[in-house]
Amino acid sequence: MAVSNQGDPSPAIVVRDMYLADLDDVLVIERSSFPTPWSRQSFLSELVDNTFAVYLVLEFCGRVAAYGGMWLILDEAHVTNVAVLPEFRGHGFGEAMMDGLIARAAERQAQRMTLEVARSNVVAQNLYAKLGFVQLGIRRGYYSNPVEDALIMWRDPLVAGAHDAPAVPSSE
Ligand SMILES: CC(C)(COP(=O)(O)OP(=O)(O)OC[C@H]1O[C@@H](n2cnc3c(N)ncnc32)[C@H](O)[C@@H]1OP(=O)(O)O)[C@@H](O)C(=O)NCCC(=O)NCCS
Repeated sequence: MAVSNQGDPSPAIVVRDMYLADLDDVLVIERSSFPTPWSRQSFLSELVDNTFAVYLVLEFCGRVAAYGGMWLILDEAHVTNVAVLPEFRGHGFGEAMMDGLIARAAERQAQRMTLEVARSNVVAQNLYAKLGFVQLGIRRGYYSNPVEDALIMWRDPLVAGAHDAPAVPSSE
């Protein structure tokens, strides 16, 4: 199912569910993006066994150029991974991928979204800040290879105005 190419400036971009058939392409993105990439088995178990997991890919002109994933637990969305093929970075695909995750989380009634990002990963921090995420904590030594702190960022509420509804219905 495509979740978000409406209003996108390029109809060549489609964000849709990730399938097992995408794993070869996703592993290329993964291995070119992270020093300790997830294995095929990790993605397989996310797609097949983890009922909390949602994984999406972004296709550009039919090619898988980015992927992203999250866990939806109760009313929280926890982003696990977002990555764009190096040759496609800087063209709005990371933002489109995050928009796809946010749209899907909102559809599934999530109220807030969180993620961890390496302290040195200023590009990703800028992306998240642009989308309204704010840093609310630090996990010291969260990453290995190299050892590095993670900043914990939140977008809360996930959708503007979602927390503004009155707790007690009006009597009128
Ligand atoms: C982080 C990542 C997903 C961003 O994807 P992208 O497609 O390159 O980013 P976009 O083109 O959508 O840019 C969105 C915003 O990110 C920020 N950004 C993107 N490239 C940047 C750069 N080179 N320098 C600083 N900020 C940058 C900007 O805020 C940008 O908004 P703007 O274009 O209005 O300035 C991509 O760089 C990536 O895959 N990195 C490796 C994996 C990774 O670090 N994932 C995040 C793990 S927490």
